[in-house]
Amino acid sequence: MAKVNEQLMQELASPAYDEARRRIYVALDVDSESRALALVDRLAPVVDGYKVGLELFHRAGMRLVESLLKLNLRVFLDVKLHDIPNTVAGALRAIAQYPVEMVNVHASGGLKMLAAAREAVDGSPHRPLLVGVTVLTSLTDADLESMGVGTTASAWVRRLAQMAQQTGLDGVVCSAHELDIVREVTTPAFERVVPGIRLAGDAAHDQARVMPPDEAIRRGATRLVLGRAVTEADDPVGSLARYLRSVREGLSHE
Ligand code: C5P
Repeated sequence: MAKVNEQLMQELASPAYDEARRRIYVALDVDSESRALALVDRLAPVVDGYKVGLELFHRAGMRLVESLLKLNLRVFLDVKLHDIPNTVAGALRAIAQYPVEMVNVHASGGLKMLAAAREAVDGSPHRPLLVGVTVLTSLTDADLESMGVGTTASAWVRRLAQMAQQTGLDGVVCSAHELDIVREVTTPAFERVVPGIRLAGDAAHDQARVMPPDEAIRRGATRLVLGRAVTEADDPVGSLARYLRSVREGLSHE
């Protein structure tokens, strides 16, 4: 087993996988700094991109982010900011003191908030990629109706993606099933960051609709978030290998 993993790690760390590795973030959805660092320790020889979400961020804060950055890892800070423009801009100026690769805000915060967010990162020492969350995948058309949104989830995704592009954001986070809509209303260089990725046969957990990596890339995902399919696998490196091979397969059709 150890020898198999060693060979596998060498294969995945090879230049043939450079682009595939660059396209992924492993979601560190754990509840402590030590658990997060243990996962990173295991996976870092193979992948250098990690997503820090709300749970871990509120447990371990910027100290953990700093630890990851010191290890020369790429960090996607998934903190989904949503507040008045001045407050969001202040939070982003604080975040951008650190060289995080990507950070996000809720696109539904409105045009003024998005413009302020963009301005804040533009003036920062380390300009992170700024992406907008469109519609949370947990929200159905019925939920939106009950909230008085007055449109369907897909129509709202379309409008929010347009707003994100119009205000100069670098991209959006969206479901793989919304890629066509987002591509219709944005430029090809716009980032499309996609969670909910599963290979056929792997548990979907609580994700209602999932898609394999190769298909998501072929449909226009520019970056993928890999979560429990890797982090909760019996053999995370083996699982990562299956996912990276599929990413590579998808990229070969780009
Ligand atoms: O474990 P799994 O692959 O389902 O994890 C997906 C990751 O992407 C989690 O960190 C989750 O918070 C995040 N995410 C998501 N769906 C969205 C936005 C973010 O699953 N619409």
